[in-house]
Amino acid sequence: MDKLEQLYEGKAKKVFKTEDPDVLIVDYKDDATAFNGEKKGTIVGKGVINNKMSNYVMSLLEKEGVPTHLVKELSDRETAVKKVEIVPLEVIVRNVSAGSFAKKLGIEEGRKLLCPTLEFSYKDDALGDPFINSYYALALGLATKEEIDLITKYAFQVNDVLIKYFLGIGIELIDFKIEFGRYHGQIILADEISPDTCRLWDVTTHEKLDKDRFRRDLGNVEDAYKEVFHRLGIK
Ligand code: TMP
Ligand code: ASP
Repeated sequence: MDKLEQLYEGKAKKVFKTEDPDVLIVDYKDDATAFNGEKKGTIVGKGVINNKMSNYVMSLLEKEGVPTHLVKELSDRETAVKKVEIVPLEVIVRNVSAGSFAKKLGIEEGRKLLCPTLEFSYKDDALGDPFINSYYALALGLATKEEIDLITKYAFQVNDVLIKYFLGIGIELIDFKIEFGRYHGQIILADEISPDTCRLWDVTTHEKLDKDRFRRDLGNVEDAYKEVFHRLGIK
């Protein structure tokens, strides 16, 4: 499968057309941004880790009944994926208080939530991805009721599978962000699942093994990504 013209360059990935109109090639970069692109940097090796980790996690989820965009890993940084129309919602699931949740509600980071939460942001960089609820999404025609119900079901299913999986390698899944797309009318999991899009803490030391090390200038950013990658045992 060959890369044809570049369709799009995002903050962390480039996307190319292929000869198959239903398939795109994603090429993961080492570029990192935070705070809606205000902070910029490079995390050496991140592209390879995020590509391979995302594919590994998506195959795991496929086996558990969550449909994903994954077609085939092509190289260290490149993967063929189903061409979807992205649903313009960032779907965030939380198990433990952290990040914007902790700040907004004045709750210390690290407090275990009584049950997982789910929230939506409207994917719009110019607006800074504002928090919205399902009524807004419906009223704006971002998704149908059926799609929102399915997205919600899949998001909690992803959470159940990943909590267990990460716990097995000594990692607590604090929260994560996922995105969905429409593929011939079906809702499937798209984008990526990586230390860029999850908060992952070591179970015993509570050390942060994710992009918060970059966002918050905590140091050892590359080491944290490598640590997650090694624990997953991906080749
Ligand atoms: P938050 O606490 O900053 O709202 O982030 C919640 C989760 O979403 C966290 O795991 C990081 C992830 N995330 C992204 O993947 N992209 C983003 O642009 C932001 C703000 C958060
Ligand atoms: N998506 C954010 C940005 O726009 C990055 C993040 O905080 O994850 O830079």
